[in-house]
Amino acid sequence: MCGIVGYIGYREAYPILINGLKHLEYRGYDSAGVALFNDTLKVYKQKGKVSDLEQLAKLKDTSGNIGIGHTRWATHGEPSDINAHPQVSMNGIFSVVHNGIIENYAKLKDDLIENGFTFNSETDTEVLANLIEYFYNQDEKISAETAVQFALTKVIGAYGIAVLCNREKDKIIAARKGSPLVIGLGNGEHFIASDAMPIAEFTSKVVYLNDEEVASIQRDSFKLSNIHNMPVPLTVTNLNLEIGKLDKGDFEHFMLKEIFEQPKTVEETFRGRLKPEYSEIVLGGLMNIFPKIIDAERIVIIGCGTSWHAALIGEYILEEYAQIPVEVEYASEFRYRKPVLSKKDVVIAISQSGETADTLAALHLAKQKGAMVLGICNVVGSSIARETDAGVYTHAGIEIGVASTKAFTAQVAVLTMFALKLAREKQKIDDNEYRELVNELASIPEKERLILQNNDAVKQIAEKYKDSINALYLGRGYLFPVALEGALKLKEISYIHAEGYAAGEMKHGPIALVDNNLPVIVVAPHDGYYEKIVSNIQEVKARKGNIIAIITEGDTGLKKMTSDCIEIPRSHPAVAPLLAVLPLQLLAYHIAVLRGCNVDQPRNLAKSVTVE
Ligand code: G6P
Repeated sequence: MCGIVGYIGYREAYPILINGLKHLEYRGYDSAGVALFNDTLKVYKQKGKVSDLEQLAKLKDTSGNIGIGHTRWATHGEPSDINAHPQVSMNGIFSVVHNGIIENYAKLKDDLIENGFTFNSETDTEVLANLIEYFYNQDEKISAETAVQFALTKVIGAYGIAVLCNREKDKIIAARKGSPLVIGLGNGEHFIASDAMPIAEFTSKVVYLNDEEVASIQRDSFKLSNIHNMPVPLTVTNLNLEIGKLDKGDFEHFMLKEIFEQPKTVEETFRGRLKPEYSEIVLGGLMNIFPKIIDAERIVIIGCGTSWHAALIGEYILEEYAQIPVEVEYASEFRYRKPVLSKKDVVIAISQSGETADTLAALHLAKQKGAMVLGICNVVGSSIARETDAGVYTHAGIEIGVASTKAFTAQVAVLTMFALKLAREKQKIDDNEYRELVNELASIPEKERLILQNNDAVKQIAEKYKDSINALYLGRGYLFPVALEGALKLKEISYIHAEGYAAGEMKHGPIALVDNNLPVIVVAPHDGYYEKIVSNIQEVKARKGNIIAIITEGDTGLKKMTSDCIEIPRSHPAVAPLLAVLPLQLLAYHIAVLRGCNVDQPRNLAKSVTVE
């Protein structure tokens, strides 16, 4: 996690660093800092958000044309002023900002202590700063760049780093392994960042660093080598990035704005792909490789968090309509559990950010084993998008709220289109059903608009349950993953313990939790499981649990049976997740706001998890 920025050129560095850090705050927000050069090195850092750093720096000298900055998600050492980055080496020669984890930091630290080094912080990053200084001091002829290379050959773990050297004030050294880093190329200036967003407004020419590459960056020049000092050729990529507005519009929070954007973002996901007038689905990114996908014997979908929930919905729809075996795996399990994969498997990595470390590592493993690897990502040009054989962008636009909302519905929309296309190409679906489902998909944005009109009603329900300690979410079939996602939303942002369960499993454990204090949120629209889920509702009511039911509009039966209902329009069961999740997002949002929680930046979480 953590966000890194850097600037070297003719402009004042500080405003570029601060704005860059605001773009990267989704990666972590427990402390922030900058180091700047003109004649002297200035380091300002403290616990808290980027806005707190901005307040601190208002009273300071922030002049200088070279600088690095950092927004932190703590791994080693609690969030504090001392543990904030930049970390400065013992004699003040090197300042380092770091994203990642140095796994052998304890051993390196012991060795450095034996060599007379002292430490102020608990961070692995200070170890790296001192290690670089140690090598730099070995010989007068050793340059800062060489010292960084030497240090990185000793390091086990992941890093994206930017380094300033107090004795070579005309350069920034950057390097990566595992944690993303991109360099923007300008005229007489260069930019560094963890993703391209902070850079996009200045230049469209970027170089994505690869693992174990070290860049020595000056105002007018840029040299790339690997950590063993072998030169590496530059591959310049043209950015085609919409600069996201860090603007909440008329909404109180980004999360609410993003929930309300969903009718529009799902339309964007469908644009040019879903063509109901011709009963056609076109997935341009997969066009060339579709024959190979048709021949696949199995599909494995990997992801984390909300993306994993989208994958589960993908499994249901792919198996039902394309009739291909599908497995869904947590990327963090898949990467370590020696999975059996073959060239006949297609692996799909799903990730909003395209940077999640576990998903990226799982993708590398699948590639090594010869599987074809596809990506479903939101962030254009992200590591996963670049490293997959082919893929489909979700086009949901930049998502700022840490709890994913619009990216989820966009992922589900892509998976549904993919499943229907595959079903059609494999001739597993009859024309009428295919046409019906394409039309059902096309009607989703309008139906989502109708659901969002219930916002005030959801808020009233939230008032009733805001002080709950636990909550249980139930669903069946396509709506079981939606129950999981609803529970995840609530716990992420309100800190209420919530569990999602397959409704049929309730009797095997969770029913023991039911009493008159437990809200049980049941996703119960009219579908093939309706009678079964009504029975589950009766079972909860018999034990005095409080039901909040998501029902199909006009379902008077369930309305009579339950005190709190939220209606959603009638739909085909296979597309119902795209509707049923919206009231659950709103419920979690309102409960969290009523509890006074920071919904956009919940405690301990980060939007992009670039450590394992
Ligand atoms: C973090 C975020 C979640 C997200 C998960 C996977 O935990 O807080 O919202 O679902 O990472 O992220 P990805 O970018 O791979 O979808």
